Amino acid sequence: MANLQSELLNDVLAAFETAPDVRLRQLLRSLLIHLHGFVAEAHLSHDEWQKGIAFLTAVGRACTPDRQEFMLLSDVLGISSAVDVAKDSHPQATPGTVLGPYYVPNSPRRQPGASLIDTDDGGQRLHVTGTVCSIDGVPIANAAVDIWSCASNGLYPAQDPAQSPTNMRGLMGTDASGRFDFVVLRPTNYSIPMDGPVGELLRATGRSPMRAAHVHLIVSAAGYQGVTTHLFDSQCRYLSSDSVFSTRKPLIRQFLQSANGELTACFEVKLAPQPAVASAAAAAAAAAAAARS
Ligand SMILES: [Fe+2]
Repeated sequence: MANLQSELLNDVLAAFETAPDVRLRQLLRSLLIHLHGFVAEAHLSHDEWQKGIAFLTAVGRACTPDRQEFMLLSDVLGISSAVDVAKDSHPQATPGTVLGPYYVPNSPRRQPGASLIDTDDGGQRLHVTGTVCSIDGVPIANAAVDIWSCASNGLYPAQDPAQSPTNMRGLMGTDASGRFDFVVLRPTNYSIPMDGPVGELLRATGRSPMRAAHVHLIVSAAGYQGVTTHLFDSQCRYLSSDSVFSTRKPLIRQFLQSANGELTACFEVKLAPQPAVASAAAAAAAAAAAARS
């Protein structure tokens, strides 16, 4: 039987060897080896295979322009976080976390220090001050910081018609010292959507649907590798059981009480240089060293 499985896999791999795109060929080869290995190792039955196909079909049918159930599935399986870990640009750079299903492009432009609260639900205000710098600590001016966060009820505007579509969303640039700051409502833990097939999967496996409280940020700057990340609340009780496995220690911050009643948090984002920039800098340093010798 093992020989038959091996022959079958070899035939399938050979069928894709003609793909002209080298990277596509690599990805398919690795994927097929793992998928065939899974079928063989698990002794997958026809009934189980058909249930798997039905589940994936249901995941696809649950997708809408405002809901990405496949992304949610990737998140709860830890695959999104595995991709984040695999592509972390540098050990000193701010680690990435999941994009999540609620990112909406084209956030409104906000001035430094602006409140992103377009629908005030009475929650506690959180003033985030931050800097964007290189892994060597050099401030990066004109970096773009794209922010989105949930309201105090744990919902994003796409889930909650009572909120302005721009609520808790904003895009701003860093100043000459790499600084940015904004005000949001204190993020709260929330359940991922449980009314679709991914919810069924979590119920069937007895897993918690709760996400640890966080603010989302995408930070990008010319010449640097951008990062999609979170700022986590150190007081959240779901930090160690985040349903999408995105909690990472360097992203956890203590929210401090200020005299004006707001909470405050500091968040430094460190970006690694683009590989081409890094190699050019290394070449320049090597040339300079050679000239000195
Ligand atoms: Fe979120």
